[in-house]
Amino acid sequence: MSVFDDLKDIRERALEQIARSADLKTLDAVRVAVAGKKGELTSVLHQMGSVPAPDRPRVGKLANEVRASIEEALDARRAALERSELERRMAAQAVDVTLPGRTRPLGHEALVNSIIEEAQDFFCGIGYTVVDGPRVETEYYNFTALNTPADHPSRSARDTFYVVDESAGADGLPTSGVIGESNVLLRTQTSGVQVHTMETSEPPIYMICPGTVFRPDAADPNHLPQFHQIEGLVVDRGITFGDLKGTLDAFTRAMFGADRKTRYRPHFFPFTEPSCEVDVSCGVCGGTGCRFCKHTGWLEILGCGMVDPNVLRMSGIDPEVYSGFAFGIGVERVACLRYDLPDLRALVQGDMRFIRQF
Ligand code: DAH
Repeated sequence: MSVFDDLKDIRERALEQIARSADLKTLDAVRVAVAGKKGELTSVLHQMGSVPAPDRPRVGKLANEVRASIEEALDARRAALERSELERRMAAQAVDVTLPGRTRPLGHEALVNSIIEEAQDFFCGIGYTVVDGPRVETEYYNFTALNTPADHPSRSARDTFYVVDESAGADGLPTSGVIGESNVLLRTQTSGVQVHTMETSEPPIYMICPGTVFRPDAADPNHLPQFHQIEGLVVDRGITFGDLKGTLDAFTRAMFGADRKTRYRPHFFPFTEPSCEVDVSCGVCGGTGCRFCKHTGWLEILGCGMVDPNVLRMSGIDPEVYSGFAFGIGVERVACLRYDLPDLRALVQGDMRFIRQF
């Protein structure tokens, strides 16, 4: 076979192999086999010396053409394979930017906290300060300084969680009706913060204190062993029951709506005189009476009264100069009345289906 035929044969086979190469690795193997240092085409070109001189120009021309067409085919095939490889990788690793991102599920503020926030907004708006107080209290602050008599039933171990009971019997069990000012307990009311505030600041005092309180009650639809109150205390010159009523009427309207009426019902609290409970007209029936308000037309929302002069005196404030009023709002109670909740325990169970409604 002449060199001519060799070259044509090489070209034919090379082009065919190039066309058949299905990936870059195969294609590179073809390149090495044909055009590499020891490739077929290279070795044919090395034989140029043996071609008779008159034929050399034609053979040289053909050799160049063959080399050019093979290189061109190699380049074109490589580009095509690279493109399809890229397309394959893009399809496999594609990120669909139109898919929704991965979100972290957001929690929701507890209903009790949002009611506390709302009350804080209201009272801060009329110039009150928000204070905090200890949840673990002494008997003095929770009861004695609030004018609560030694034999008051709320002081018994049935109604108060005692942490340290100095009057405990030899068996270590608390006796009922314990009296001891340094006994330590979980506060049953936020009212002790009134005393701390009066001891540490001078009138005028305009404060609220939201916080957790504790009572030995089993959790049921109407009770929780741990719940929340918002205490309020005002001490200034010339404070009257009219100030109390104006303030609490405005608060009630802000909390329940401008159309709701209030009623001040006489009551007893050891630390206020006179004392009352405040009712708001029932929002379900509008005051005509229904199951929700037990057919009275009214719902009780807070306790309040004029600060007893004994309480002012015990905390170092002269009742001849100053007077004041105090109030205590049950936060869970407000939640129940506003949203007609059938069971208080829903407030602490953390079921997002419940909490997301508010
Ligand atoms: N501490 C009372 C309770 O837990 C609520 C209360 C009533 C607070 C009257 C007050 C008040 O400040 O003046 O039942």
